[in-house]
Amino acid sequence: MNKIEDMREHYDLSTLDEQHVDADAMKQFHVWFNEARKAEVLEPNAMTLSTIDKDGNPASRTVLLKGLETDRFLFYTNYNSDKAQEIESHSAIALLFLWKKLQRQVRITGFAKKTTKEQSQAYFNSRPKGSQLGAWVSPQSQVIPNKDFLANRKEDMIKKFMDVANVPLPDFWGGYYLKPEKIEFWQGRPNRLHDRLRYRRVDGNWIIERLAP
Ligand SMILES: Cc1cc2nc3c(=O)[nH]c(=O)nc-3n(C[C@H](O)[C@H](O)[C@H](O)COP(=O)(O)O)c2cc1C
Repeated sequence: MNKIEDMREHYDLSTLDEQHVDADAMKQFHVWFNEARKAEVLEPNAMTLSTIDKDGNPASRTVLLKGLETDRFLFYTNYNSDKAQEIESHSAIALLFLWKKLQRQVRITGFAKKTTKEQSQAYFNSRPKGSQLGAWVSPQSQVIPNKDFLANRKEDMIKKFMDVANVPLPDFWGGYYLKPEKIEFWQGRPNRLHDRLRYRRVDGNWIIERLAP
């Protein structure tokens, strides 16, 4: 087995050129996201969400992209979780997609805003019942005494919602939109001379700049 310092991949699958990208960053994201889906990247909608807490400490974790609109990214979580509290104190957040199979990375920064209750409700209703109950069971990010705590709460929730046709949306659960201010597309190239194109929103228009790798 290679030593860690000797582990490296050769990148040469594709190129990223100004003349072939869409002038609109979100449209370009759609193009790459669809290519990741077509290439059967495993969970191409899994993304790293980074937040900053009230003291300026950063934190990252994976969440799933659950919607892509003309100018917004959407994900869902527990509004009492650490990440949600961090977003409440600093709405500036970052998303990161790594599609290794395509030798691509996309970095996104912008500001988060809660979805409307109707939007969260519509998505919550579409989830399998097990996931709906999971939202009620887990006090996300809190310290719990042991594993049985969750199993017991699950039993309690199954009983609680046994006779209801639809599990209700918890008021501590819902979505966030990210409206991007910057999106950087990275395509791996030989000899570490990678392609990086960064879109910046300036007065409502996207400016495209090439960055050194
Ligand atoms: C592939 C993957 C997908 C995940 N998707 C979500 C998600 O969509 N929403 C969510 O709240 N947590 C999701 N998680 C769990 C989070 O990474 C994290 O553990 C949890 O949200 C608690 O984070 P926090 O304590 O920083 O708030 C996912 C984890 C993985 C590995």
